[in-house]
Amino acid sequence: MAAFASLGLSEWLVDQCKQMGITRPTPVQENCMPAILEGRDCMGCAKTGSGKTAAFVLPVLQKLSEDPYGIFCLVLTPTRELAYQIAEQFRALGKPLGLRDCIIVGGMDMVTQGLELSKKPHVVVATPGRLADHIRSSDTFDMKRLRFLILDEADRLLEQGCTDFTKDLEVILSIVPAKRQTLLFSATLTDTLQELKSIAMNKPFFWEHKSEVRTVEELDQRYILTPEKVKDAYLVNLIQKFQDEHDDWSIMVFTNTCKNCQILTMMLREFKFPTIALHSMMKQKQRFANLAKFKSNIFKILIATDVAARGLDIPTVQVVINHNTPGLPKNYIHRVGRTARAGRNGVSITLVTQYDIHLISAIEEQIQAKLKEYPVQEKEVLKILTQVNVTRRQCEIKLEATDFDEKKEINKRKQMILEGKDPDLEEKRKNELAKIKREKTKFKGRIQEAIQKKKGKMLKKRATCKTAPSQTVPGPS
Ligand SMILES: Nc1ncnc2c1ncn2[C@@H]1O[C@H](COP(=O)(O)OP(=O)(O)OP(=O)(O)O)[C@@H](O)[C@H]1O
Ligand SMILES: [Mg+2]
Repeated sequence: MAAFASLGLSEWLVDQCKQMGITRPTPVQENCMPAILEGRDCMGCAKTGSGKTAAFVLPVLQKLSEDPYGIFCLVLTPTRELAYQIAEQFRALGKPLGLRDCIIVGGMDMVTQGLELSKKPHVVVATPGRLADHIRSSDTFDMKRLRFLILDEADRLLEQGCTDFTKDLEVILSIVPAKRQTLLFSATLTDTLQELKSIAMNKPFFWEHKSEVRTVEELDQRYILTPEKVKDAYLVNLIQKFQDEHDDWSIMVFTNTCKNCQILTMMLREFKFPTIALHSMMKQKQRFANLAKFKSNIFKILIATDVAARGLDIPTVQVVINHNTPGLPKNYIHRVGRTARAGRNGVSITLVTQYDIHLISAIEEQIQAKLKEYPVQEKEVLKILTQVNVTRRQCEIKLEATDFDEKKEINKRKQMILEGKDPDLEEKRKNELAKIKREKTKFKGRIQEAIQKKKGKMLKKRATCKTAPSQTVPGPS
């Protein structure tokens, strides 16, 4: 407790931490908080579950209590669920201040959000897309006096993944004052360091938790080598085993697509496992409701896409299963980081097919640790194999009947409209591009063919030259 005070935190905040069971600062808090309190920009890179959120929430609250006004602090984060979680931390730790926060995320009512923004909350926690929409469409709020800009999961916000935030970030950066403190946090900052430095211009204090292994020691990292067709049977077998042996454990299963997420959820429910889904094709209210049911242990198994891979802090999660091997080592680090948090133990099991072995090598190289094989009773798995595969097929048919793919298409079109694009025009462009590509390939093929023919002819010619008897010039008779 004394340690928090010695970092420069006021007594009321130290007390508030104590009430929440936080008595000693973690290394990222111990190292980054003094720099933030001094007024410096800060980039903090520390392992998953190591308390990065409090490392920025506490100094902001301290500064806010000295000079309270709104909008004082803006936190940007890549997912809606994470925005709610961060706002909760602000609310809990900032309770004695009467902190007013506002959450601006997609999928929720924009008018209500606009109204809240106009009331000048102390802290705004937002996903970039929706906040940029508000900036573009309304002049009822400004951020001229903003003191803190925070990017949680900063590397994700800056990388150009399937959701590209860069344009929205530009809009947001255009309305925040240049004179501000910028704080950037993630468990995987180092790849995007240069881009990040350009956002935190004020000679940022950079702190990285140096350690040989990039995942936490308390995490037992395993893999199971499996043919693609047997994957689901392994999943059912693992869940059955954990449910039988530890009825208080919660399990997160990550998979690659929304459709797979939906099918696996349906399939596990057929096996009577208390399973619930979380993916970006669900309505936002449903997403929040499902996560809440998982957090409160009503459902013990959450099947999710990477939308749940970063930042979520659910202490009961004891096991993370990767139903697909993540293509990017970074995503692996965040996914498995949903367990073994804040010093607790946890297990992660990655299902690896013969096509994914190179991905595992890349992951091992990145995390600087070897995954160990998870022992399984293959006989048990084989016993359920047919039943599992038949059930999966039945679920796929059921899902097809619900127009899941059609809804996906509609969502895609909606997203395009929101981005100011014309879906029909885009479709036309896409088709034209595909046509050009096809013609290019055809043309390349023809050239290749012609070259081959020419080569063949030349070879033939050479060969006949070699085999033909040398023609001697007849000498004088
Ligand atoms: N000093 C502390 N002592 C004990 N627990 C703490 C401390 N600081 C934070 N925690 C708790 O640790 C848990 C993980 O914290 P947090 O979510 O901030 O981790 P993180 O570093 O942001 O992880 P991720 O990279 O996954 O986002 C939370 O439940 C939080 O309340
Ligand atoms: Mg975090």
